[in-house]
Amino acid sequence: MAGPRDTLGRPLRDLRVSVTDRCNFRCPYCMPKEAFGPDHAFLSHGRLMTHGELVRIVGAFAALGVEKVRLTGGEPLLRADLPDIVGDLKALGVRDVSLTTNGWFLAKQASALRAAGLDRVNVSVDSLDRDTAGRMNGLGFDVSRVLSGIDAAAAAGLTVKVNCVVQRGVNDGEILTLCEYFRERGHTLRFIEFMDVGNTNHWSTSQVVPAQEIVARISARWPLEVTAPAYRGEVAARYRYADGRGEVGLVTSVTEPFCKDCHRARISADGKFFTCLFASEGQDLLSSLRAGASDLDLRGRIGGVWGARVDRYSDERAEILASGRPREKIEMSYIGG
Ligand code: GTP
Ligand code: 5AD
Ligand code: SF4
Ligand code: SF4
Repeated sequence: MAGPRDTLGRPLRDLRVSVTDRCNFRCPYCMPKEAFGPDHAFLSHGRLMTHGELVRIVGAFAALGVEKVRLTGGEPLLRADLPDIVGDLKALGVRDVSLTTNGWFLAKQASALRAAGLDRVNVSVDSLDRDTAGRMNGLGFDVSRVLSGIDAAAAAGLTVKVNCVVQRGVNDGEILTLCEYFRERGHTLRFIEFMDVGNTNHWSTSQVVPAQEIVARISARWPLEVTAPAYRGEVAARYRYADGRGEVGLVTSVTEPFCKDCHRARISADGKFFTCLFASEGQDLLSSLRAGASDLDLRGRIGGVWGARVDRYSDERAEILASGRPREKIEMSYIGG
């Protein structure tokens, strides 16, 4: 059965599912301490999708043609039943089940996740310097524990990619050091342009380091060659090191938006369906499910929402910001990136 297409002809291929809106880190570009302090209203336990509800919702997407599912947070490893969720998603027949994590709890959980069928993991490392890394996770956590988590994930047989959000004047002096470290270990490192996600991270264009500047800086040391995307709509633009030592990626949402090939749906931890990372409103699938919706009902609802989809926020960002009427957006930690 052909899956749904949106108003711009984009198919529904990938799903990102947040399993919790909580995180043990407070990266200022995502969950600044001032905005996510003790008074922040996190989702109560009863509002989170249970393991069974999550699997039913993903099942409805899988029936519509979704083959790639990424589990996110907040920090997904805070959820104790994650290996069971992974196992059930693989049992549904999802081809590629992956995880995006800050890596803090990875060393302990990597083997169980791999045994449950997890295919891949993307781990955030913004700096190898203890102080800078501590500032970028907001709470002084030691990056060496995250690096051990990456080693453990690789040893368990998981394919690892590393994500680095680049902020001018904060960690852009470390681009080459990071490249060297991960080249030597055979992991693809992706540099992510600092994005205006959510409403609290004090984003400004002056802190964005354009991807082409990053590529030029790396190329001056290790020449890079453009590589074709692994599939249409891949988020990161790929470059290979000309010396054959692997590749780097660039996530260019600010300078070169990739909305025209955006095939991603998102589910928040409370079971709402969002059609863009920068959306303000979601469709409450979990309440429908709790009110007795059948699998067929869910599929119909998802197909209808996707069919009406018009989102292309990154393409429109410049105009929206110039209009002086910024939109209220969901927070990154709520929707999982
Ligand atoms: P792969 O399947 O390994 O390619 O994963 P991914 O790069 O899609 O996922 P990951 O969670 O590692 O995200 C890397 C960065 O890309 C994060 O900063 C995400 O917020 C960002 N990202 C992922 N999808 C989108 C998208 O559709 N739009 C925008 N603007 N950013 C995205
Ligand atoms: N801009 C770009 N990337 C971000 N991430 C979190 N906040 C931002 C932001 N403001 C990244 C995290 C993680 C991924 C899910 O999203 O570092 O790698
Ligand atoms: Fe937590 Fe990831 Fe957000 Fe950092 S970027 S605060 S690790 S959810
Ligand atoms: Fe997709 Fe929205 Fe990101 Fe554009 S901004 S690529 S539509 S999620």
